[in-house]
Amino acid sequence: FSDFLTDTFHRQHDYLRISVTERCNLRCVYCMPEEGVPLSPPKELLTTPEIVMLSSLFVSQGVTKIRLTGGEPTVRRDIVPLMQQIGALRAHGLRELCLTTNGLSLHRKLDLMVEAGLTGVNLSLDTLDPWQFQIMTRRAGFSAVQNTMNRIFELNKAGAGIKFKINCVVMRGLNDREILPFVEMTRDKDVEVRFIEYMPFDGNKWSEGKMFSYQEMLDVIRARYPDLERVADHKNDTSKTFQVPGFAGRVGFITSMTHNFCGTCNRLRITGDGNLKVCLFGNAEVSLRDIIRQVNKGEPIDEAAFQALYQAATQNIEGPTPQHMVVPNSEELLNVIGMAV
Ligand code: GTP
Ligand code: 5AD
Ligand code: SF4
Repeated sequence: FSDFLTDTFHRQHDYLRISVTERCNLRCVYCMPEEGVPLSPPKELLTTPEIVMLSSLFVSQGVTKIRLTGGEPTVRRDIVPLMQQIGALRAHGLRELCLTTNGLSLHRKLDLMVEAGLTGVNLSLDTLDPWQFQIMTRRAGFSAVQNTMNRIFELNKAGAGIKFKINCVVMRGLNDREILPFVEMTRDKDVEVRFIEYMPFDGNKWSEGKMFSYQEMLDVIRARYPDLERVADHKNDTSKTFQVPGFAGRVGFITSMTHNFCGTCNRLRITGDGNLKVCLFGNAEVSLRDIIRQVNKGEPIDEAAFQALYQAATQNIEGPTPQHMVVPNSEELLNVIGMAV
């Protein structure tokens, strides 16, 4: 096991998030405009063998958890075979294989994914009301998401052990009335409902007025469940975890706006078009795709080159917050690779 992926701030990057598609079958109001987001030309996106090659490389360097994200990962046509190949890396040190999904078209694929090694599902679901669902996602499909949830509970009853979390972005005037129903869901269900502060992204028309803060959410919940108590978080969790005593599930808060958690962030990211990003908000990106295709002519990147590359991509970090990420230019990076190969 190499501790190579530890950065200057002693953060061990052992968690890799891979975006397997930029496309999505919903249009959540906090995420994209009605017309969708501009898509990269298909030839610029990573192929399945490339994603598997990179996953294998990162696992060999100490990554133990891989999360597939999107867009919506289940709209990638070969998502199941892809997960089967990544799942095979369990023999080489991968311990967790997770999916962040809106659940719309997951129901039929779920059993195969569990067989392939799926250990966790984070379901993006902001409302328990079918009409509100249509308003917030600009699409129909609430019952499909319910089918997915029910299947996860069934599989877990049968012992599948899927770590199940719901991500609920709270927006003032839209779904802030649903905080209590979501908490109520944790009474009998073994699920962690995580309320997320609405964050600004390029073009999502964020306004501070629509942001419902962690403190406000806590106030709403405590008014009804005064004995809500803080429970231990897992190392590197983005959320602060609570539980109503006696309830089966837990409640969490992702406080990206009011309390950042950059200091304990252990995530690496690969974008759909193959760029390595150390921070969600920082814009320092290195094209792993160009290195595989142009420098290595499709051959895997060797360990020494990879280590040099990773260092070059992270050496300019001056502090563990997005403002401190500096973009290395690609010429510098290729020099590094040229030296190392
Ligand atoms: P687990 O910890 O494995 O449950 O997953 P996760 O919380 O990292 O992943 P998920 O895809 O469910 O993301 C949940 C929320 O956390 C989303 O709103 C993300 O935008 C946010 N998030 C994920 N990683 C980061 C990060 O590094 N920084 C910030 N600020 N937000 C993040
Ligand atoms: N603010 C907060 N969370 C967001 N997500 C998407 N856009 C935003 C935003 N603007 C959440 C989704 C999904 C997770 C990966 O990111 O709900 O669960
Ligand atoms: Fe964005 Fe996820 Fe909603 Fe799709 S389901 S629009 S990717 S938040």
